[in-house]
Amino acid sequence: MTKHLLTISGLTKAEIDATFEKTRVFKQRQKRGIPHTPLIGKTIGLIFEKASTRTRVSFEVAMYQLGGNVIFISQRDSQIGRGEPIKDTARVLSRYVDGIVIRTFGHEIVEEFAHYSSVPVINGLTDLHHPCQVLTDVFTIVEKKGSCKGIKVAWIGDGNNMANSWIEAAARLGFDLMLACPDGYLPDKNILAKAKKEAGSKIEVVNDPKKVAKDADVLNTDVWASMGQEEETEKRKKAFKGYQINSEILKLAKKDAIVMHCLPAHRGEEITDEVLEGANSVVFDQAENRLHVQKVILEKLLHPEA
Ligand code: CP
Ligand code: NVA
Repeated sequence: MTKHLLTISGLTKAEIDATFEKTRVFKQRQKRGIPHTPLIGKTIGLIFEKASTRTRVSFEVAMYQLGGNVIFISQRDSQIGRGEPIKDTARVLSRYVDGIVIRTFGHEIVEEFAHYSSVPVINGLTDLHHPCQVLTDVFTIVEKKGSCKGIKVAWIGDGNNMANSWIEAAARLGFDLMLACPDGYLPDKNILAKAKKEAGSKIEVVNDPKKVAKDADVLNTDVWASMGQEEETEKRKKAFKGYQINSEILKLAKKDAIVMHCLPAHRGEEITDEVLEGANSVVFDQAENRLHVQKVILEKLLHPEA
């Protein structure tokens, strides 16, 4: 069966641990300028129906560094935008490329694509999940803190795709996750219920940002309005007032807490400029690590025998 990466819960703890182990090696190798090109002759297609800086560029560079090629397929210039069925697109592209990264709206689109694809499909963000980002974020925690065991992660803001993937990561890897989300903007009910049932650690959703920030090792947030929710921006600005990582919130966390944000950030909304640029912030290391983690994912899925 073709292996895809659609959600964090689709991975075992052993697979995630092995990914992190290999990421450390890949990152070191890259820093030393030692080439590693197991994907010579392979090509991935990137289908993006939403904007992207990090995901697109990190996947493209990852593939080039591994010796492979990339074709960027925008909705506008392909038949996807003119309504060609997903199941046809998936079967056609599978005949040309060795893997596909998709960024789209409904999660069912990547599921359908993966169902019909005979090559690995990687979720580059849907409305429901952002697995590559959260895998990278947990890798960054392990890099900074030595392990994610016994770590308390606080999420302040929207119960969005990032929050859902964090919930799945906490259940898989066994760290505590406290989320503070306003009513009406909670994480996906089914994902939360399943994760709580499976988790050996604490996963809790409350309304109070201060409560979750208290003694946290990691403070984490994301935009109040995600891609596709632009029309709700004003309404969301009101609902999310107070759900901000700022210096007062930072003071409640552990002294050596790290501040994370998947970026792009809206300074003055979910995070202040002072905290984003401050000593506790690891946001640019986080962004860099997308490249290293995704190289491991690409090698694993496209060349599993490596
Ligand atoms: N964090 C992230 O996925 O960024 P992009 O939207 O720029 O890809
Ligand atoms: N929640 C955000 C993440 C962007 C990387 C969005 O979906 O727009």
